[in-house]
Amino acid sequence: MTSVVRVARRRPVWHPLPVDRVERLTAEAVTITFAVPPELRAEFAFRPGQHLTVRYAPAVRRSYSICSTPRELDRTGLIRIGVKEVPGGAFSSQGVRGLRAGTTLEVLPPLGTFTTDLDPLRTRRYGAIVAGSGITPVLSLVATALATEPHSTFTLLYGNRAAASVMFADELGALKDRYPSRLQILHVLSREPGLSPALSGRLDRDRLALLLDTAVPAGVDEWFLCGPAALVETAEELLRSRGAPAVHTELFYAGPVPVPTPPVGNADDVALTVRLDGRESRTTMPRDGRVLDAALAVRAELPYACKGGVCATCRARVVTGEVAMARNYALEPDDVAAGYVLTCQSVPLTPDVTVDYDA
Ligand code: FES
Repeated sequence: MTSVVRVARRRPVWHPLPVDRVERLTAEAVTITFAVPPELRAEFAFRPGQHLTVRYAPAVRRSYSICSTPRELDRTGLIRIGVKEVPGGAFSSQGVRGLRAGTTLEVLPPLGTFTTDLDPLRTRRYGAIVAGSGITPVLSLVATALATEPHSTFTLLYGNRAAASVMFADELGALKDRYPSRLQILHVLSREPGLSPALSGRLDRDRLALLLDTAVPAGVDEWFLCGPAALVETAEELLRSRGAPAVHTELFYAGPVPVPTPPVGNADDVALTVRLDGRESRTTMPRDGRVLDAALAVRAELPYACKGGVCATCRARVVTGEVAMARNYALEPDDVAAGYVLTCQSVPLTPDVTVDYDA
């Protein structure tokens, strides 16, 4: 049974944004620039490191990091994402080909916690370890941090197969020219010789340790890790074992989304209340079902994208009851401590659960 009650609040909603241009970066990657109309500028204001979620068809939702800077949005009304082709990908491969200036896509306002608070009065050492398209959010972080904090520095370790596959090579070169003494970029190439033996080969644990010991200034205050799960997990473990004070992580792909085994519990095991867009909807669900799936059955407009615990688009706060997450690559410990969960990964632990998507 489903019922609806009015409560206050609002949630991120889809907005049609016109494509301003699509530009090729490498053989496998493009940038898509959207024109944000003045009335949506506040809604699409973002922090460097965040991502946009694009809806290409009702069931095709993808999250892509923003590579441009908040200052660009303020000045030009443009916001840009980096898209690397996934062979056979519904949007990255097929959808991108059909995009032209003027095409309109449905887009959710920026989301994500892969960021930091920048302060012009602060002097920090930032570091990033990225591979492939993992550079996308870090490009925005580097440009924004160095522009905002005139005394801070940034060291970037960037792994790629070959020079031709380096995304944003021109933008990185321009940043290096602008901040020659405050930006250090180390390109590591796995399938062709890099600038030195240390920069030639896979960005694995041994090479990371070597570069941290020999090429990276000591005392990095904040690290940003973005790329495939194996690199991010290895780098995080290594940095934490060396006492790194702050490590932010972002995964683009966390491996295949585990297909939850079909629920075997009864459909009315758990009473679920969903708060969304100022309304409460009530339904029931099996004790071994996923909260998002049950919630979508009564509120089809719910935000979600990856269903794999990576993008945080399905984030909500547990108001009553308890849930357990199968995996979480998106929420920071502070978020989890405050009661936020990824509903696509959440299984109820109590017979009554209320989740608030407006919180
Ligand atoms: S939909 Fe992406 S984390 Fe749940």
